Amino acid sequence: MTEQKNTSGLEGITAGETALSTVGKEGLDLTYRGYSIRDLASSSSFEEVLYLLVYGVLPSRPELDRYRNLLISLRDLPPALKTILEQLPPTANPVDILRTGCSALGTMEPEGEDRDAHAIAGRLCACFPSMLLYWHQFHRDGRRIETRAEEHRTVADQFLYLLRGEAPSPLHVRALDAALILHAEHEFNASTFTCRVIVSTLSDFYSGITGGIGALRGPLHGGADEAAMMLLERFSTPDEAEAGIRKMLEKKEKAMGFGHRVYKKGDPRAPILKALAKQLAQEAGDRSLFPVAERIENLLLSEKGLYPNVDFYSAVVYHFLDIPTFFFTPLFVIARTSGWAAHILEQRANNRLIRPLATYIGPAPRPFPKIDERG
Ligand SMILES: CC(C)(COP(=O)(O)OP(=O)(O)OC[C@H]1O[C@@H](n2cnc3c(N)ncnc32)[C@H](O)[C@@H]1OP(=O)(O)O)[C@@H](O)C(=O)NCCC(=O)NCCS
Repeated sequence: MTEQKNTSGLEGITAGETALSTVGKEGLDLTYRGYSIRDLASSSSFEEVLYLLVYGVLPSRPELDRYRNLLISLRDLPPALKTILEQLPPTANPVDILRTGCSALGTMEPEGEDRDAHAIAGRLCACFPSMLLYWHQFHRDGRRIETRAEEHRTVADQFLYLLRGEAPSPLHVRALDAALILHAEHEFNASTFTCRVIVSTLSDFYSGITGGIGALRGPLHGGADEAAMMLLERFSTPDEAEAGIRKMLEKKEKAMGFGHRVYKKGDPRAPILKALAKQLAQEAGDRSLFPVAERIENLLLSEKGLYPNVDFYSAVVYHFLDIPTFFFTPLFVIARTSGWAAHILEQRANNRLIRPLATYIGPAPRPFPKIDERG
């Protein structure tokens, strides 16, 4: 008898080709278009990475200056979108604000001859922080904020400025910028694959991104950083954390922010984020959260062989940047829009409808009972 491979969750299945990143490829670490994430996180900006992913090359200095200016000019929201954001409930999940905002913008600025996918990629990355914080500030204290904030030249700087209403420190801007870079692209993860499936039907760019946001929202994917923060907040000392995590493991509960479908020997993004988290913790004089995080990391490694993934230490980084937990996943959306955009372009460049098969396990053919004959 031939052994049937378990294809549940498409685990281990190669579902296509990509020139964008090298997730889990032995000896290659994680690269975006061949560049190591370590170099990109330490020496580039999110705008450079967006340009690299979408246009395929790193920008020169004049190209980057022009691109930054373009993105700043794309931060404003159409009045009709502001009206929609004002009408959406203050209690909504902020990820749903971006999902709805993306879909709505697609009706106002549709993809077409005068607006191609490259342009929409920049538009969405530039105006997602505006959408989120316009909605947030309007519902918090009735303020209709100006979103362009020209003097805050990067997405990270603009986001922190719109959130806090005051200029963030260079360390905070750099930390958020690095976190955005590390969340930008990750091969055929669930949300990116969703985007590719959607545009493989020749659907439009906004539909692809809107679907990607929906897939990212779940706690097994992008929502894990918020769940990781909630886990961390349950403990005030490393000893408490150790006891709590042991109990969770006994009950077979999952610790969010740990484990990965592909990286079984560690997520290469986690140590970079951990170093940033440590720096921010020192700056904040923290003696609790970072030691708790480290104890959880050590325990899960020794007890279960589980490593932290991107979400665990990004939660710690965001916490020290004073970013409310409900904005963690929206930040993931903002960053990953760059990778989604690049995958949509790559899918379209060599498109074939994505339509797999399923193994049928339902009932054998049977007679159809008329409605009055049913028990
Ligand atoms: C990411 C994830 C879905 C990958 O899962 P997967 O490849 O399907 O692996 P499985 O869920 O089958 O886990 C394999 C084993 O490790 C355990 N495990 C995996 N992640 C775990 C976690 N975070 N905490 C505790 N145990 C975990 C599972 O319980 C399972 O144990 P078992 O064999 O005793 O049943 C999974 O690790 C997870 O749910 N992590 C938490 C959510 C998260 O952080 N997601 C963000 C990913 S970037």
